[in-house]
Amino acid sequence: MFYKLAYWLGFTPWERASETHGHLIAQMLDREEKERRAPYGTALDVGCGSGMWSVELARRGWNVVGVDNVPKALGRARGRAESAGVDVRFVRGDVTALGELGIGSGFDFLLDLGCFHGLNDRQRAAMGREVTALAAPGATFLVLAWAPGRRGPLPRGASRQDLEAAFAGWKVIADDPVAAEALPRALQNADPRCYRLRRG
Ligand SMILES: C[S@@+](CC[C@H](N)C(=O)[O-])C[C@H]1O[C@@H](n2cnc3c(N)ncnc32)[C@H](O)[C@@H]1O
Repeated sequence: MFYKLAYWLGFTPWERASETHGHLIAQMLDREEKERRAPYGTALDVGCGSGMWSVELARRGWNVVGVDNVPKALGRARGRAESAGVDVRFVRGDVTALGELGIGSGFDFLLDLGCFHGLNDRQRAAMGREVTALAAPGATFLVLAWAPGRRGPLPRGASRQDLEAAFAGWKVIADDPVAAEALPRALQNADPRCYRLRRG
């Protein structure tokens, strides 16, 4: 509901953050690609929103599926892909029931920039199971999460331990800060981090 309203109002500060900190995310995508040879394979953008990063991945040569449950965001995502001249499959659905969406499996790379850390415990466990079922052995997964904290309707954050609990069978192989200067003062303690996990 929060995101539906946010997209409807055009209140999408995470997109501004992506603009200011995008170079850090881009460096993390460079790292993924250094380990592989183009074409890199299949990528799943979990909670893709308006497709900023789905489109960037497609531009870089990934075969991308983006999933989100807000139709307005997906409409913008499709327009973004068209403007960029890339093909991305955007699918409306719940990240806690990915297996029902007919999006295939064996994804080589998965990305979650800001979705998991807003979910409740039940949703986190379900997303963990679903993501794991759709990932190839050896797949990598980048998850951006704020530190746990009380923030009203804003995402409650997730710790490294929360990730380890939800994504059984994955190992956290990197944990990088994503600079927080551009966040509003109320979020200065958010300590956004990008975790890189590898599926065993
Ligand atoms: C902070 S936004 C980030 C969007 C995008 N990853 C980006 O970086 O621009 C979180 C996104 O997760 C989506 N989301 C949250 N819960 C979801 C769920 N249960 N199923 C599908 N999408 C969900 C929201 O609609 C929203 O687009």
